[in-house]
Amino acid sequence: MMSKEIRGFSKLSKKEKIEWLTAKYFKSKTKAKETLTKYWNSDKILQKLHDEFSENTLSNFYLPFAIAPNFLINNKIYTIPMTIEESSVVAAASKAAKFWMNHGGFKAEVIKTEKIGQIHFLYSGDKKYIYNYFEFVKPLLFKNTKTITKKMNSRGGGIIDIRLIDKTSELNNYYQIFATFDTIDAMGANFINSCLEEFSQIFTSSIPKFNNDNLKSKDVDIIMSILSNYVPNCVVKSELSCSVKELNKLESKTKNFANRIVKAVEIANTDIHRAVTHNKGIMNGIDAVAIATGNDFRAIEAAAHAYASIQKYGSLSNAKIVDDTFYFSLKIPLAIGTVGGVTNLHPLVKFALEVLENPNSKELMCIIASVGLAQNFGALRSLVTSGIQKGHMKMHLTNLLNKHSATDEEKEKALKHFNNKVVSSSNVENFIKKIR
Ligand code: MEV
Repeated sequence: MMSKEIRGFSKLSKKEKIEWLTAKYFKSKTKAKETLTKYWNSDKILQKLHDEFSENTLSNFYLPFAIAPNFLINNKIYTIPMTIEESSVVAAASKAAKFWMNHGGFKAEVIKTEKIGQIHFLYSGDKKYIYNYFEFVKPLLFKNTKTITKKMNSRGGGIIDIRLIDKTSELNNYYQIFATFDTIDAMGANFINSCLEEFSQIFTSSIPKFNNDNLKSKDVDIIMSILSNYVPNCVVKSELSCSVKELNKLESKTKNFANRIVKAVEIANTDIHRAVTHNKGIMNGIDAVAIATGNDFRAIEAAAHAYASIQKYGSLSNAKIVDDTFYFSLKIPLAIGTVGGVTNLHPLVKFALEVLENPNSKELMCIIASVGLAQNFGALRSLVTSGIQKGHMKMHLTNLLNKHSATDEEKEKALKHFNNKVVSSSNVENFIKKIR
């Protein structure tokens, strides 16, 4: 184990890092090196750009970049870029979009766009002094961060409010400075964190100016300052609706198709095991667009699941039938951006945003929520009718064939053979053996 310990790894050159790694972990160094270098881009500038996105970069990791056409959202047709490795996701989204395009499309609206940052600190003195001090320092928190907020203010955003929250009933001596922000078209993580770190500095350094013997700098202990990825006030809603009759026509072999979808959502709201899977299906679509557009899908995931558990963890989507009309909707927090981060740097992200005709962040929120809803509709449609495996394994067939290094000719034969047969790992293996 010790022989794998290394100091100063980040200081090594890329070549030296690869040398070290391949010598330590691979029988054939040459083959291992080849695997990494095969994915290098021949365009040196582009490769350098990717190397510099992160630390200790050795190669590039490809994911498919696909598109799902025919999304009618707020009366505009979008072609959606999606980055995802799961074979049936893009097909399911496209299929759902096509149906809904002829049934009014997605109606999406942004409900709010407020983001949150917190300073977590300890104070053991009398509450009234910290509250009095907060009133004294609050204008300074706005005023002395002007250099950071100037650009954001000129775009119409900035700090919305700063409050002091007493959390001492939950944790001894624990208080929060709770700030809300509008970051317009940026996801805003850097902006918020910079403001918070400046707030911390102003908050502690201004105590002597308060000139009150009952409050000393040493009484306040700032533990940390960081944005919150929980954004229940940065929310978008997308909705689909059509007559129950029209929807039932889509799956005419299944009795009461529309009712079965409503039941599936009710089941997710009853059972956490089902709810998590149900929401995972929604996130298949949401993450795919988030990645393609250079957004932080980990932040989106974290916020979505916390939002799903505001009361009791349940479905993020909602389905109902009212007076013979079927309604299907998704309300979800989405802290995303169309500027900043890698959005202006990664060539494929720029490309993706151009395919979406360069939306602002509110428009992108509407797009992403609609794809999540389409994905949920596609999954539930399969689940309450024929099951997902039929479609899923058909899409997965190529992956299984690739595992056996099938030639194009063999793939063609396999596609014909499995057109009306069950695709499974062993069936594909037997088929390949038989034709070889
Ligand atoms: C698979 O990636 C997603 C589904 O499991 C979602 C669902 O069950 O609703 C099909």
